[in-house]
Amino acid sequence: MKVLHVAAEVFPLVKTGGLADVVGALPQALIKQGADVRLLLPGLPAIADAVLSSKKVCDIGAAFGAGRVTLRRAELPYSHVPVYVIDAPYLYRRGGSPYQASDGIEWQDNLQRFALLGWVGAHLAAGELDPAWTPDVVHAHDWHAAMVCAYMAAHPPTTASSVFTVHNLAFQGIFAQADFHLLGLPARFMAPQALEFHSQLSFMKAGLKFADRVTTVSPTYAAEIATPEFGCGLEGVIRGRGADVSGILNGVDGAIWNPEKDLGLARSYSAQQLDGKALCKQALQKEMGLDVRANAPLFGVVSRLTSQKGLDLVLTALPAVLKRGGQLVLQGNGEPTLEAAFEAAALQFPRQIAVRIAYDESLAHRVIAGADALLVPSRFEPCGLTQLYALRYGTLPVVRRVGGLADTVVDATEPALTADKATGFVFEAATALALEQALERAMTMYEKQPALWKQMLLRAMQQDFSWDGAARGYMQMYGQLAGSGA
Ligand code: ADP
Ligand code: GLC
Repeated sequence: MKVLHVAAEVFPLVKTGGLADVVGALPQALIKQGADVRLLLPGLPAIADAVLSSKKVCDIGAAFGAGRVTLRRAELPYSHVPVYVIDAPYLYRRGGSPYQASDGIEWQDNLQRFALLGWVGAHLAAGELDPAWTPDVVHAHDWHAAMVCAYMAAHPPTTASSVFTVHNLAFQGIFAQADFHLLGLPARFMAPQALEFHSQLSFMKAGLKFADRVTTVSPTYAAEIATPEFGCGLEGVIRGRGADVSGILNGVDGAIWNPEKDLGLARSYSAQQLDGKALCKQALQKEMGLDVRANAPLFGVVSRLTSQKGLDLVLTALPAVLKRGGQLVLQGNGEPTLEAAFEAAALQFPRQIAVRIAYDESLAHRVIAGADALLVPSRFEPCGLTQLYALRYGTLPVVRRVGGLADTVVDATEPALTADKATGFVFEAATALALEQALERAMTMYEKQPALWKQMLLRAMQQDFSWDGAARGYMQMYGQLAGSGA
């Protein structure tokens, strides 16, 4: 089974969120199950620089405004997964994020930049760029890669099937209809049953409409996006795909997130050897300038600071934590108003609140290991990876019952505790009051029932969220597609 994954990010080279973690780990899990997987990535600076020893596959020539486009082949450092890289310096070799300049404004030519990614994927699928390797399935991730599905539909010589995975429906790749001609697609693609979306054009819709199967990263989010509350205006399109839409839960890359082998921690630990966790907490309190108190409940946050993540609720609920002697370590960046509000809170209560407005991979590990509980009060959450990392590190998640959070954390209700199934604290409404009540429950258990807390922590650490399960789900889907000739 030959599978080409098409994406804009891959850990550890280019990462703006969980997408990169998935693209870094899933291909390896699929390879372990016998698939012949290759990745197709844009030649963003960190990617192009990491594969300097790449071999040229072919010259593509001028395309999408770039004077010179070359397709190269290499292996990813770290994982050795084979990768095709689109070398198009004019479109990809620039600073900032993959999607925006450093001032936060979207790149003006994102349409061309990500159309090229899809176009190359479709021509690889048709066997036109590398006749030595033609995929059976093309698997595209998020709007950045979604156009591969439209180009495959436009160039029928391909026998490959397509899978499109939605990691976050809120980011859609919307462009002016006037730019449709730049895509080089037949006019029929600028129609409501194709890319047209409220008089604009939508890359996300290209994936949703033209992929043979649509998946998203948790079963609950798959159901949610068929409703107006979570569908971002695309709920009708999603409902229209019926049983072609399903949810496959993400996993955890155990080579990166494992408290037993995590060299960046003050002390590694495991369910059998838990002492190290207390040392990690102490080290985090010291590093952050908090009071070093073993019995202060320490809440952690590692997150993009956007309205999706519901962290404004944390700001409102904070006084309840402070009143009971609790502590907060927040690491994240994003919306300036949220950054400023958390920084102000830390200034006011420096011994109880520490805030790092930064993107720092190793600090994320120290926060998740050192905290007693991790807050993920999202308004919506397609899957969420930090709560999975927290479970693995024995850090109990406090989450809203939404999307992948609902699928991965078992609330500490009486029956769940009696059955030894509880792994965290779950609340329903996206309100500060509901979060506060969950925090109160967590703090009460932490203070008054340490044995029960430990039982939950051990249960959390035993959860199996490895990538093997997800990889099996995708393999089954690929097999059905290849078998059906879809
Ligand atoms: P999303 O992709 O919506 O941001 P996820 O929970 O799926 O949410 O993935 C977020 C990923 O980004 C995790 O690997 C998390 O550790 C990481 N992350 C988020 N914010 C930061 C930060 N400020 N520094 C380091 N890593 C971060
Ligand atoms: C998105 C979602 C997040 C998910 C990640 C990886 O960024 O917001 O919930 O875990 O993709 O699939």
